[in-house]
Amino acid sequence: MSDQILPTTPRVVGHRGAAGHAPENTLASLKKAAALGARWVEFDTKLTADGVPVLFHDDVLERTTNATGLLADTTLAEVQMLDAGLWFAQEFRGERVPTLDAAIAQLSVLGLGANVEIKPCPGVEKETARTVAEVLRAEWPAHLPAPLVSSFDAGVLATVGNSAPELARALLVLKIPGDWQARLQDLGCMALHAQAKHLTSEQVAAVRGQGYALRTFTVNDRAEAKKLFAWGVDAVISDFPDRMAFEA
Ligand code: G3P
Ligand code: MG
Repeated sequence: MSDQILPTTPRVVGHRGAAGHAPENTLASLKKAAALGARWVEFDTKLTADGVPVLFHDDVLERTTNATGLLADTTLAEVQMLDAGLWFAQEFRGERVPTLDAAIAQLSVLGLGANVEIKPCPGVEKETARTVAEVLRAEWPAHLPAPLVSSFDAGVLATVGNSAPELARALLVLKIPGDWQARLQDLGCMALHAQAKHLTSEQVAAVRGQGYALRTFTVNDRAEAKKLFAWGVDAVISDFPDRMAFEA
């Protein structure tokens, strides 16, 4: 745990880039987040059939591309032929599913920090964790704040901790479990990322009181964000980072 380079995130982190304004998990979405003034973004990573990490949320292709089937059955060459923008709006026609490499290069140009969520396709959890950790270790630009890795999958976080102990890790949860502190300790995580709709002020106080960071998703309403900040959350992850526009 002590090996981790703990990042200080700003209070607002763009979700899947700026998913309210541009097709999620694309380079256009990262650019949009930066253009709206976000300093950090969150995005999801998974492996293609040939083991290349790309930015993608679902196990299936149909919601966010013009194809059907499983991402895990699709090679990088095939993935790169898909349109990942048209489903969102005509102006994004031709937008591609980016590799993690390409996303890092884009972050570097934009000066954006990132919360890299590892969301493995079923059956390749360890391989996904190891591969994403290796890429972050090898390619993360020195001029950016250190990345923050998160996952709903405890095994993924344990694997990242073993292969790249310096990477800061956060456990993602929908509802905060009663044994949250033991889980964070076991996994060497210094932060909990919890879904906002189930969060209570008591839980925020308990997590913050034990010295852990607490970030919350997905918050798209400014009044809700204001309440959450009053409770003490460290950051909100938002599809509309521009709506939040809170100080640092
Ligand atoms: O990392 C926060 C949030 O992205 C987790 O949920 O499903 O949007 O990846 P999801
Ligand atoms: Mg995510």
